[in-house]
Amino acid sequence: MSALPSVPSQANRHFLEAVVNLSETQEIALSEDVYSEKGVKLLARGAKVSAAMYAKVISHKLVKPIEVCISAGDPPSGAMLVRVAEQVLDELPLLAGICSWTQGRVTPMGMLSKCKLSASAGTLLAVAFSRSENAARHAVMTSLIAMGIANAYRYNDSQLMAAMCLGGLFHDVGELYVDPAVLGGGKLTATQWMSYASHPIIGAALAREVCGFDSTTQRAILEHHEYADGFGYPRSLRAQAISPAGRILSLAEILSALVQKPAAFSRIDIALKIMPGEHEPELVTLVNELLRDARLASPDKVEALQHDVNANVHSVFLRIADVLAVYDELMSKTSAATPAVRAILDEAFDRFAEVQKAFASTGVTGLASLDGILDEDELDESRFEAHCVFNEIAWRLQRLSRELVLKAGKMSEGESRALLRMANALAGTPEPVVEEMQDIAQDAAVEPS
Ligand SMILES: [Fe+2]
Ligand SMILES: [Fe+2]
Repeated sequence: MSALPSVPSQANRHFLEAVVNLSETQEIALSEDVYSEKGVKLLARGAKVSAAMYAKVISHKLVKPIEVCISAGDPPSGAMLVRVAEQVLDELPLLAGICSWTQGRVTPMGMLSKCKLSASAGTLLAVAFSRSENAARHAVMTSLIAMGIANAYRYNDSQLMAAMCLGGLFHDVGELYVDPAVLGGGKLTATQWMSYASHPIIGAALAREVCGFDSTTQRAILEHHEYADGFGYPRSLRAQAISPAGRILSLAEILSALVQKPAAFSRIDIALKIMPGEHEPELVTLVNELLRDARLASPDKVEALQHDVNANVHSVFLRIADVLAVYDELMSKTSAATPAVRAILDEAFDRFAEVQKAFASTGVTGLASLDGILDEDELDESRFEAHCVFNEIAWRLQRLSRELVLKAGKMSEGESRALLRMANALAGTPEPVVEEMQDIAQDAAVEPS
């Protein structure tokens, strides 16, 4: 694994704000004296975290990161994690298909209940879980799914299993360093995306320095948004360059979102099939096998969609046409693109052509012509499938757009202009976000070597 950056010696303000917010509902105390890099004692061991503490530490570089100097009074316990797990398993019976294994005396619940966290790790998780109502649920669900897949993939590999348990719980702790405004959903600007895309790197650094997790767990966290076809982030790794733990966690992350939606089996089917090569084929086969019985026991109920699916499908066509036009324009103007930019645009265009092909091969493009041929139930099913395909295609175009934004951040302002233009066409954003290049260049500078 290439070098991770260190946890910064100056506290991250978003992290600190989350700590102070949590201190209003549970006691957080300093587990040791806090010194500035210049040797000045800023806070004493035993002091309670409060809004006043924020002002005392925010502007200083510290001898030790603040993350390892605080201790929450009520960190997530094994019993709490099990309670959340039991609740999601109750609500989502299909999860039982993935998590019903027992391995000797070890079960997913056993793994969660025996999760031994240091004071710093427990505090970090408490702060992460306090950020949103869904945070604990998403973390526990990802952990359960990752353990289920890992158990089927490498039966009896206790190191991998432990990494999946912890990796699932902690995979998004790096989001604590990201402005909460960026996490609220919706479209991100280029700068916001640059900042969000660093969360796996921050998470892995926290896993190493604050939690003391092993390298398998660190890597799983670092790679939880990487895809086998090289179109993930933050490092665009391909296939075997991603660790087994990273490949499993990335798939578990996708599934944890899909299992909560209506007609989850169909959504999972489409998501895992639409772009072959995104995930390791063996893992995809394992997931299908794990879900087979649950699917037979309780098949999807597809309900009529309330919105106009044809309009969505049409919007993908418009976006494709826009991308083609922008690509042609950029490549025909010699002044618009240097050889380095052309190479990136060509690579992106090849990927775009793959997405376009995947879209055409689903058959949903002919949806409108089925009116009058299929009965209402069949039409509902076709519309639902088209809706899932639309989401999956739109998401992949968005990902490709973000990939270009990350690359633009590493280039000169002039070069990045063409890449951002293409990125905006892929994302369906009308105007290029070029005025943000200064920020992007600064953000890009914090990427580790
Ligand atoms: Fe996540
Ligand atoms: Fe994430």
